[in-house]
Amino acid sequence: MKYFLHPLGCATNKADAERIATMLETVGYSAAESEKDANIIGIVACSIRQSAIDRIYGKVHNWNKRKDAEQLITFVSGCILPADEKKFLKLFDLVVKLDQVPQIPQMLKEYGAVAPQNFWEINPRRNSTFKALIPIQNGCDKFCTYCAVPYTRGREVSRSSADILAEVERVLSEGYKQITLLGQNVNSYGLDKPGEELHFAQLLDAIGTLADNAPQKVWVHYTSPHPRDMTAEVLDVQAKHPSLANYLNLPLQSGNNDVLKRMNRRYTVEHYMEVLDMARSKIPTMTVSTDIIVGFCGETPEQFEKTIEAMERGRYDLAFIAQYSPRPGAVAEKRFEDTVSKEEKVRRDKTLTEVLKRTALENNQRLVGKIIPVLVENASRKSGMMLGRSEGLKSVEFAGDESLIGQFIDMKITQADSWRLYGEKYI
Ligand code: 5AD
Ligand code: SF4
Repeated sequence: MKYFLHPLGCATNKADAERIATMLETVGYSAAESEKDANIIGIVACSIRQSAIDRIYGKVHNWNKRKDAEQLITFVSGCILPADEKKFLKLFDLVVKLDQVPQIPQMLKEYGAVAPQNFWEINPRRNSTFKALIPIQNGCDKFCTYCAVPYTRGREVSRSSADILAEVERVLSEGYKQITLLGQNVNSYGLDKPGEELHFAQLLDAIGTLADNAPQKVWVHYTSPHPRDMTAEVLDVQAKHPSLANYLNLPLQSGNNDVLKRMNRRYTVEHYMEVLDMARSKIPTMTVSTDIIVGFCGETPEQFEKTIEAMERGRYDLAFIAQYSPRPGAVAEKRFEDTVSKEEKVRRDKTLTEVLKRTALENNQRLVGKIIPVLVENASRKSGMMLGRSEGLKSVEFAGDESLIGQFIDMKITQADSWRLYGEKYI
């Protein structure tokens, strides 16, 4: 009996899929090489954008066709909008909410495995032998008006600090080299349980100490902070520990204060830039990425101009640029009109991509001639070369072989374009 999982969307969904995999294995399923070999297929849904929802419908439609010829169980888990849940109940055999993941054995009744008490107790079946995803919280209380997360994942709940530190110690002792701490708004970690758990800076400090003292070299990344809540303390901790990677994803979303207000982001562009400048002054080698939404309800050409200006000012290495798509149930969908046409959203997306292409190239060119460590990830099917990532998560291509996967290699950077560095092994 085999299972296949499709995690869509962000790293949090990938981490959730690793726990779902464990539950399927406790009831006797093993991982299938491909979807067509599986007897049970699960999709870990993303509801952030309409395009992600459309993919879910496309996939389940194909699976349901397969059911005419064979026995196949399908389920959906992850980020599910209340508006979609009823429809999914008709299309899938099971809808497994995240807090029901420990009950997968009961849901697949024919097996009598013992279920863990809660989601965090499940030991994930990791997809990598050197990169570990570690969730530190679930849900979000920020209610940005465009966003589905507070409705799909619910209100913010922090995982216990002791639990997180135990998982960090476990992966370090297993030799993992990259840890990514995940949360929708990591800066508010612990604030839902005052006096009970550490705060984010304290948690990061404790994790940095563990990772600095591991026998192997380690990089710890975290995602994502909220510009309103980001503190000097967090950045000081990040600067203090060599294992805490010099990488920051600081989501801007828009460069116009009126748009930010309508998004309920609760910061101004000026405040955002102060935080960004502080991050760069404390950690000059920081690689910085951002998230931007183009074409949010009522965004005028003049307001969009401000986002172009902010993108230039931010000198980003990377940006996740999304075209606004209304999420059923989210405040913006109920209260504002989706005024910007699809064509205009595409145009704004392309305009920002051009700015990014320039700033990323300028930043990358500064690395040419430098020697930097790279964690080797995989072989490129296209070029036959090996691919790795820098501490700032920049993709680095070089000549080598697959035996290097999972290792840190010092690399001399010889060439750069906007989206990739090219290097030679430096011995
Ligand atoms: N439309 C477009 N992009 C969105 N994001 C979140 N909700 C929406 C939406 N309704 C983007 C934001 C967020 C990233 C994870 O996805 O930029 O930071
Ligand atoms: Fe969504 Fe805003 Fe929470 Fe991020 S901070 S998950 S964008 S509501």
